[in-house]
Amino acid sequence: MTLIERFMLDVSTVVDKALDELLPAADTEPTRLHEAMRWSMFAGGKRIRPGVMFAAGRTFGADEKLLVRTAAAIEMIHTFSLIHDDLPAMDDDDLRRGRETCHKKFDEATAILAGDALLAMAFEVVACDENLSPELRLKLVSQIASASGTPTGMVAGQQLDLEAEGQTITIDELENIHARKTGALISVSAIAGAMVAGASSAEVAAVELYASKIGLLFQITDDLLDVTQPTETLGKTAGKDAMAEKATYPGHFGIDATREMADKVRREAAAALDSIDCDTGLLLEFADLIADRSK
Ligand code: IPE
Ligand code: IPE
Ligand code: MG
Ligand code: MG
Ligand code: MG
Repeated sequence: MTLIERFMLDVSTVVDKALDELLPAADTEPTRLHEAMRWSMFAGGKRIRPGVMFAAGRTFGADEKLLVRTAAAIEMIHTFSLIHDDLPAMDDDDLRRGRETCHKKFDEATAILAGDALLAMAFEVVACDENLSPELRLKLVSQIASASGTPTGMVAGQQLDLEAEGQTITIDELENIHARKTGALISVSAIAGAMVAGASSAEVAAVELYASKIGLLFQITDDLLDVTQPTETLGKTAGKDAMAEKATYPGHFGIDATREMADKVRREAAAALDSIDCDTGLLLEFADLIADRSK
């Protein structure tokens, strides 16, 4: 196992334990809702966003105890976004994280409500984190809300993604969709890690630039994997983007040119870390992990 794989395993273990404690037990009322939340939450997601938050936090010396609840909260929002992304009215997917999507396993209304509940719970979890000062909690809540909603966050990106189906759009528009629907939540994860660690504003700014690059890199890679990997590896149906006429990098530029662009964005992410004085090895490895993943 490589160092970064070990790191991700450790982060997943800690964050999964917190999530298990934070989510209502499956046998509490309303049980169907809680079962649905747990179905999607504990389905073997990669926990990339907690990973990047911990990587940024560790880079600037944060104690793990201070990171875990916010990381769990961001993973709740990410899982909410996946549950809704898979709904028939959106991407209409049957398979997620290697198992039935939430609305397939349960029903559409329960899936919608499970997503709603995860989003609301995320903010409660950060607001009530007594390991952090009230000022820091407020800053985190406001930044995570911006990254999740509109006009610059994930929900805005999802709207633009749906509107772009079957349309011809410019490269700037494509980058803009990816930056919002996926980049924003990955970016705020890194920024939150640096903020919790008490990094200086110059350091947070450097992390912000790095994070915007790896956020974009993440979705470019997601688009590539959709056309290069089989369903069994992905844990979600392969080839869905072309079927839905989604705006994607490989759809726009072809696979080879997309790989070159991903490599350029990876180098830009690395360059963004140049101004940081402390050891940025973990963040560099993280960018490689995102680019080289197979699912
Ligand atoms: C999938 O995210 C959706 C995108 C934003 C591209 P992940 O690839 O991080 O999904 P999980 O959490 O590992 O299932
Ligand atoms: C999803 O992008 C981004 C989200 C905010 C969930 P995709 O629609 O490409 O994600 P997958 O491929 O279904 O995981
Ligand atoms: Mg989608
Ligand atoms: Mg989708
Ligand atoms: Mg995709």
